[in-house]
Amino acid sequence: MFNIRFLFIMSIVGMACSQERKLPDLVTYKAYIKPLLQTHCNYCHYKNSGHLPLTSFEEAKRFSSSIKYVVENNIMPPWPADPHYSSFLNQRILDVYDKQLISKWINDGLKEGDTIGQANNELNQNPYTLGKPDLILAIKPSFIKQHANDQFLIVKVPFELPTDTYVSVIEFVPGKHQVVHHVNGDLVKYEDGKKKTVFAGEYLLPTSHDSSIKQVFEKMDLPNDDGTYPALQKSVVNYLPGVYAQIYKNGIGGYLLPKKGCFLLNDLHYGSSKSDLWDSSYIKIYFAKIPPKRPLQEFQLGTLGIAPVLPNLLIFPNTVKKVHSQYIIPNDISVVTINPHMHLLGKSFKAYAVVPKGDTIPLIHIPNWDFNWQYFYTFPKLIKIPKGSLMIAEGVYDNTVKNVLNPFTPPRLVSDNKGSMKTTDEMFQFIVSYVPYKEGDENIEL
Ligand code: HEC
Repeated sequence: MFNIRFLFIMSIVGMACSQERKLPDLVTYKAYIKPLLQTHCNYCHYKNSGHLPLTSFEEAKRFSSSIKYVVENNIMPPWPADPHYSSFLNQRILDVYDKQLISKWINDGLKEGDTIGQANNELNQNPYTLGKPDLILAIKPSFIKQHANDQFLIVKVPFELPTDTYVSVIEFVPGKHQVVHHVNGDLVKYEDGKKKTVFAGEYLLPTSHDSSIKQVFEKMDLPNDDGTYPALQKSVVNYLPGVYAQIYKNGIGGYLLPKKGCFLLNDLHYGSSKSDLWDSSYIKIYFAKIPPKRPLQEFQLGTLGIAPVLPNLLIFPNTVKKVHSQYIIPNDISVVTINPHMHLLGKSFKAYAVVPKGDTIPLIHIPNWDFNWQYFYTFPKLIKIPKGSLMIAEGVYDNTVKNVLNPFTPPRLVSDNKGSMKTTDEMFQFIVSYVPYKEGDENIEL
């Protein structure tokens, strides 16, 4: 927890000072480059992270030209949202000054130098440092074959607890970092007496064309014993490299785990691996000492959501298609976190709300959609959207050969395939986590 807040403070300080700051006469690793890498890169690039470690002088020196290349071309740190449209917590963006520091360090001869000011050694460690969890749920190990294509699994992680339990944080921890690409997981909640055992049924299923969500539920034995469906709370556990379980301030957030339930990771995405291996990822759960004051609620626009995709998600080969989804907000709400979602044909994404008086509240703009970096974006402060506002999400899809991520050459007709979750089918979703509005929310920091 300390690390996450600390990093955030560091990056604000970095941004605020950069305008007036003149480049130093001599840029050394310890004085300038190490703190910069710690703030913007070590979230993901640390020892055993599965990605290039960038925590020592030797590593930074050895990879200095790659570092220069990826930052100058805005490839790293990955942050697809346009910072001129809206800003978010823990936003990772290098400004011109930061980039100049890296070039100057190289030009100055890659000197190690001395630390100035406070040493920030604690950031050298694996940043998964929330401490000891109250509960660990292992995920059934899955086998990843060498050089196989990307794999998408639906995973059931059942649990039984002595009593209903308030939880502050649910964290997914990848076993093999180098292959675990991302995870989106929901919580299935059984009411008392509705389910004899949560441990029956399949635990791992490939996401495939021909199984509908209903079939997946049946194979995994997820329905109640009487055949009805249990409650499903969306997006309670998520993972992307460098994205850690969200801890909100001021009593916002938190979950209630029922006595019987399971996490449904719908999907767990593995990238291609250089060798055969077994992944044993797990979920860490931290109990809350007091009940959450304002637990999150959620709705989603678009595919499988409360408002349809318009016109429809039928994307013909060799075309660029624009769609949108819109919804009138029925009550005053305070938005906490948003998550735009498209698959491989996504090209750009924008969401905003038009209030009844006509003003626009910008939410997010992603000018160059990148399937690999689908963050849950949290605002620095709660964003009030008044009752009667029209929330609009717009997406553009590129189903031409110009789209390097297009899964088909030549391009083929791609659609949502009735809510399939396969990556080569498309989705258009805008997921909004919020709390009902209360007087003064505009000033509440997250
Ligand atoms: C949110 C996580 C994240 C952050 C933050 C991040 N990176 Fe990366 N970086 C990655 C991942 C994941 C890859 C591998 C990309 C791939 O395989 O496509 C990568 C790749 C790289 C590479 C290419 C390495 C190779 O093996 O080819 C370099 C160099 C790099 N990052 C430098 C940086 C620098 C410098 C920063 C900070 C300014 C940074 N990264 C911030 C996740 C991150």
